[in-house]
Amino acid sequence: WVCCTKSATVQKAQCTTGKSDPRSSVFQIQYFRTTAAYNEVVTVRTPAFAESVTERDVRWEKAVGDTVSEDEVVCEIETDKTSVQVPSPVAGVIEELLVPDGGKVESGTALFTLRKGAGAPKAAGAPKAEAPAAAASPPTSATLPPPPSSVGPIPTAMPPVPPVPLSLDRRAVSCENCFVKMNRMRLRIAQRLKEAQNTCAMLTTFNEVDMSNITEMRKTYKDAFLKKHNIKLGFMSAFVKAAAHALADQPAVNAVIDDTTKEIVYRDYVDISVAVATPKGLVVPVIRSVDGMNFTDIEKAINLLGEKARKNELAVEDMDGGTFTISNGGVFGSMFGTPIINPPQSAILGMHGIFDRPVAVGGKVEIRPMMYVALTYDHRLIDGREAVLFLRKIKSVVEDPRVLLLDM
Ligand SMILES: *[C@@H]1O[C@H](CO)[C@@H](O)[C@H](O)[C@H]1NC(C)=O
Ligand SMILES: *[C@@H]1O[C@H](CO)[C@@H](O)[C@H](O)[C@H]1NC(C)=O
Repeated sequence: WVCCTKSATVQKAQCTTGKSDPRSSVFQIQYFRTTAAYNEVVTVRTPAFAESVTERDVRWEKAVGDTVSEDEVVCEIETDKTSVQVPSPVAGVIEELLVPDGGKVESGTALFTLRKGAGAPKAAGAPKAEAPAAAASPPTSATLPPPPSSVGPIPTAMPPVPPVPLSLDRRAVSCENCFVKMNRMRLRIAQRLKEAQNTCAMLTTFNEVDMSNITEMRKTYKDAFLKKHNIKLGFMSAFVKAAAHALADQPAVNAVIDDTTKEIVYRDYVDISVAVATPKGLVVPVIRSVDGMNFTDIEKAINLLGEKARKNELAVEDMDGGTFTISNGGVFGSMFGTPIINPPQSAILGMHGIFDRPVAVGGKVEIRPMMYVALTYDHRLIDGREAVLFLRKIKSVVEDPRVLLLDM
């Protein structure tokens, strides 16, 4: 990542060289190179990877002899940031897997060969590479049919063996414990979380937000918003906008320590990572230049990233950079928690669930929709004062968004 020091007079465009263009996804299908070969056999290769991706493992979804249609996923390449699906360029039958399951690949590595045409004959011979474990798994006692009853006729043929689910590891089938290899993404997540704990002096400060006004605003405008913009109006945009406002107010929260040069690196742009849970693990796609966006822009950006995450279409570039992170445990009903910093950043905001709670308002007890918020920050760089003021700014913007209009 490249950023700029406060003293430097470089422009943002220069500061951000080195950040990849989010529009160019190297993993789009048009980058898959296929080579037409003798007798209509095509070789499918891995796409070109961004240089920042250093580890890539293949995980086969199909085996030799499987018939696949055009665009059907044949394997996934797991990297430390996301997993990339490799679809079949044409309909046909898989002839050979050229890389074993779990094997490492480079840009342009030949992955598998495919005989074109749906009715093509099955490939003869054993695969050079190891086929998925389940294909070779012997039946276990759990999958055998019950013994025939003594009065029935003696069966003349072996009963069909029910297929072993492809997703089960060979060892998981044959013993009580379940062993699942950690995928690249989980390994990388584990490594980064420990890196943050080992590097930063992490401390968390809390506050609570009265969500009455924003809930009321949402209730009033959600239908009209959906009609005009074709997306649902959520609470996230208010927090993203509030964070951008608060980051401008407390630049240290948007800065980072460069441990090699012992410099504090202030950024003159706000790129906010939004934590999204996917079946493979947590991903943090980035909304860029949030400081110049309005609520609608932000809602649209969040919707787009969420959609991509659900479809497993996030590219590595979507997750590069980011100067601050927002993690919303509220979607799972979390009441309270302390998030961990997403390095190389210095702070993370944790949102939680909205619950009706009694609060004191003007000397009286009232029931209000309340949310606890947490800010975990690197105390080496950010002092308690800045952290507390930052969180209070978030609170004031979300409780009464009109403060944004008045730039207060
Ligand atoms: C939000 O910004 C976009 C351009 O970024 C603009 O088209 C739109 O009109 C703005 N909406 C409001 C309400 O300002
Ligand atoms: C909600 O907005 C009103 C103005 O409409 C403001 O007076 C009030 O303080 C806000 N509520 C909270 C909890 O800040």
